[in-house]
Amino acid sequence: MPEPIKTITVVGSGYVGLTTAALLSNCGYKVYALEINPERLDVVKQGRSFFYEEGLDPLIKNALEEGSLIPTDSYDEAIPSSQVVFSCVGTPDNEDGSSNLTYVFDAASQAAQLMQPGTAFVQKSTVPVGTGEKVEQKFKEAGKTLSYISNPEFLREGTAIADSLWFDRIVVGSDPKTAAAVVVSLYKKIEENRDKLSQISGIKKPDNTTAEPLYISTSRNSAELIKVSANAFLALKISFANSIAKLAGQAGANVNEVMDAVGADKRIGRAFLNAGRGYGGGCFPKDVSGLIRSAEDYGVEMEIMNAVTQVNSSMPHYIIHKAEEALGESIEGKNIAVLGLAFKAGTSDVRRSHAIIIANTLAHKGAKVRAYDPEAMKEAKEDLGSNISLCSSSEEAIKDSSCIFIATDWPEFKNINMGKIAQLSKNTLIVDCMNCLDPETVRKAGLSYMGVGIA
Ligand code: UGA
Repeated sequence: MPEPIKTITVVGSGYVGLTTAALLSNCGYKVYALEINPERLDVVKQGRSFFYEEGLDPLIKNALEEGSLIPTDSYDEAIPSSQVVFSCVGTPDNEDGSSNLTYVFDAASQAAQLMQPGTAFVQKSTVPVGTGEKVEQKFKEAGKTLSYISNPEFLREGTAIADSLWFDRIVVGSDPKTAAAVVVSLYKKIEENRDKLSQISGIKKPDNTTAEPLYISTSRNSAELIKVSANAFLALKISFANSIAKLAGQAGANVNEVMDAVGADKRIGRAFLNAGRGYGGGCFPKDVSGLIRSAEDYGVEMEIMNAVTQVNSSMPHYIIHKAEEALGESIEGKNIAVLGLAFKAGTSDVRRSHAIIIANTLAHKGAKVRAYDPEAMKEAKEDLGSNISLCSSSEEAIKDSSCIFIATDWPEFKNINMGKIAQLSKNTLIVDCMNCLDPETVRKAGLSYMGVGIA
């Protein structure tokens, strides 16, 4: 019988690592959150995360108080006593679009030197297919018998805790497959502790959860390819919806009506068919380009994913062009509000945010841009052009605007009072970059409406 798991190290305190560490440390395990960035480590030590994610801070705080979560920057302190080591380090992209695996290999070799024989090394970072094989080779060269398990993560920013408590599926890939049992046992523990974790985090069970999650055991290479394929397919659905939106707008149809009916076919599904300003964030853009490059390494051309990227990049410019058509003149010199800067609602993350691209493009075209986001102002500041005014409320951004771009579908924008907008600025065009407003409500308030693919 293998020893029961008592101690775990999670390397990397980003979106995935910190969520994993916070959950497991509230399930009876001693968890080291290993983070080498001093500022991020400091924030975790104070019982918080360095990014906004609902429900995460109370979990961190509770585990710190109980002494079950130990933030550290020391491999020597964390690794030797751990039976499981999760690698959750960043995999940014290189200039040519390929995945930069420096942090992945660094974390693996530093941990390998200190792991006891039989320790499970679990890869959660998104890596190109074939990476695990290379890491295992490094373990062998270091003379270590360690099991390597690929356990890709499917949580979304903004709903990370709910996704992690009520998951649809867990994928574990290892050769031999039996090595993955230890990882499965950790997720079973999370399932057992759902009520407690939900209570501490304040995150309630969403309506559409799967009754019985699937545990899928595969080879290591398949698991790696599952993760990037899932993200690539979701990106493809979005770009497909955006291509149809362009046609719908031109042909006098409504893309929402089209996608509602297309998605009602169970073989297709409605999710991720929302047309709008295109996908951004730390995952889809780099995972799609990473897939294209890694396929090239195997002599395979991913034409379809090139098209997905092309459609996605076109969306901010397409929307601005359509807005100018609707206004009947150039936006140069006009007061324009951009509401929403994060790459999606529920997060402060602005990486590759199309909302930021929209704001910067408008400013570049000579508009006087005022921008506001409820959570991402600090993060957005660095990426926004210096000629963009940063506002502390939507009212401040909206006042006397010729045009208001709703670029991220935060609830406060979806539910914004149109009457109030009409008072703050007259004859305004509302550009609904996320198709998240009711056109009739906007028009009834005396404002003009433009959606994406809504004639
Ligand atoms: C994505 C995946 O959804 C997760 O399953 C995965 O674990 C994660 O990447 C990752 O690899 O770590 P995330 O990037 O947090 O999650 O956000 P999503 O909810 O997938 O949204 C991505 C982008 O697509 C956002 O900019 C969003 O606004 C956009 N989107 C999404 C659309 O434009 N239309 C849609 O219908 C859905």
